Amino acid sequence: MYSRRDFIATGLTALGAASLVDPRYLVPARAAKKLLILGGTGFVGPHNVREALKRGHEVTIFNRGKSGKGMFGKDVEELAGDRASDLSALKGRKWDAVIDESASLASAPEWVKLSGELLRDNVEQYLFISTRSVYFDLSSVPMTNAAPVLTLENSPIEAGKPLSYGHAKAYAEKALHEIMPGRVTVVRPGLIVGPEDDTDRFTYWPVRIARGGEVLVPGDGSDHVQIIDVRDLMKFCVTLTENRTFGVFNGVGPQGGQPFREFVSRIQQGVGSNPTYTWVDADFLRANGANPYGRELPVYQVMRGRTAGFARFDITPELKAGLTVRPMEDTARDTLAWWKTLPADRQAAIKTGFTPEREQALLALWKARAGK
Ligand SMILES: NC(=O)c1ccc[n+]([C@@H]2O[C@H](COP(=O)([O-])OP(=O)(O)OC[C@H]3O[C@@H](n4cnc5c(N)ncnc54)[C@H](OP(=O)(O)O)[C@@H]3O)[C@@H](O)[C@H]2O)c1
Repeated sequence: MYSRRDFIATGLTALGAASLVDPRYLVPARAAKKLLILGGTGFVGPHNVREALKRGHEVTIFNRGKSGKGMFGKDVEELAGDRASDLSALKGRKWDAVIDESASLASAPEWVKLSGELLRDNVEQYLFISTRSVYFDLSSVPMTNAAPVLTLENSPIEAGKPLSYGHAKAYAEKALHEIMPGRVTVVRPGLIVGPEDDTDRFTYWPVRIARGGEVLVPGDGSDHVQIIDVRDLMKFCVTLTENRTFGVFNGVGPQGGQPFREFVSRIQQGVGSNPTYTWVDADFLRANGANPYGRELPVYQVMRGRTAGFARFDITPELKAGLTVRPMEDTARDTLAWWKTLPADRQAAIKTGFTPEREQALLALWKARAGK
């Protein structure tokens, strides 16, 4: 069996060399898969679709048609419906694998119950995009997928309140394992970043570092970062379906995390700027209203106490299963290049990080306190 990619490659060779290509010398590729993507549009979806098509797979997407309808033209089959109320377009159809990237609300457990029960006999593998937020306890170094996840027992939720994001994903995972035992693949990504990420959470850093001047950076440079380029995540997910790999995986990199000092330095290399850095104590920032992992301090987390292992995952099993992690320089460069294609008013309204005025004010406060 040869993939569409190989077919195209050999087809091109054949154009030049008539029928001289002996099929015995073709390198067998993995079989092309029929993939169903629940989602397929939004941020992650198009990266997933493009990766699957690039590798010669046949792709069907399922969503409400509210975002990006028709964006892939005839290359992709689009099915319309609603995870909450209408899965009729999926009935009676068969796929090799489903990649579920649209169940993220408090209703995720109900949504996956509906799709899991409907698809159980019509797909061989159910790959669910979960989240690092499922972990109840992020205090271990290194972290692995053996760490306990959120439950209503270890982290109760007030009666009548919706499940938290982490709870919802954890219960959705559990429901899928019960519905399709042994045929589920769970991927728990950390912050997903890169071109087309509309949240600006990572994007703030390449944009800010490219602007140059004195940059306020949190902590002392030793706190770690582990995030994932959306393109690496999608390569990993497609690989997991090609290899029919089941189990629970984290979706972060690089191995063990990288200290914030290295993170900004690599971003700087990627975007080609020459700023100076002033490291500002995290407790001081918190006392002045800038919370780690909050709107003003995206990506940054303090590696101590309950979050000591937040960005300290041992990803040996993921690397063995096919995860590749591109250099931060590339993610920063490509994200900035994409950012520069956006309209000027969008670029002027970056959603996270410090405004220039706020950054200056905090730097002045910090220096006054430190007597510098
Ligand atoms: N972004 C991150 O940093 C991050 C980190 C960890 C995990 N994740 C997970 O990654 C996944 C993808 O995230 P994303 O940022 O790409 O999400 P997104 O941009 O919001 O895209 C969501 C997709 O789901 C579809 N959808 C939404 N509501 C639907 C419904 N009721 N019925 C059917 N389809 C529906 C959307 O299409 P329509 O609107 O047309 O229906 C779209 O294709 C999510 O499961 C998220 O929890 C994200």
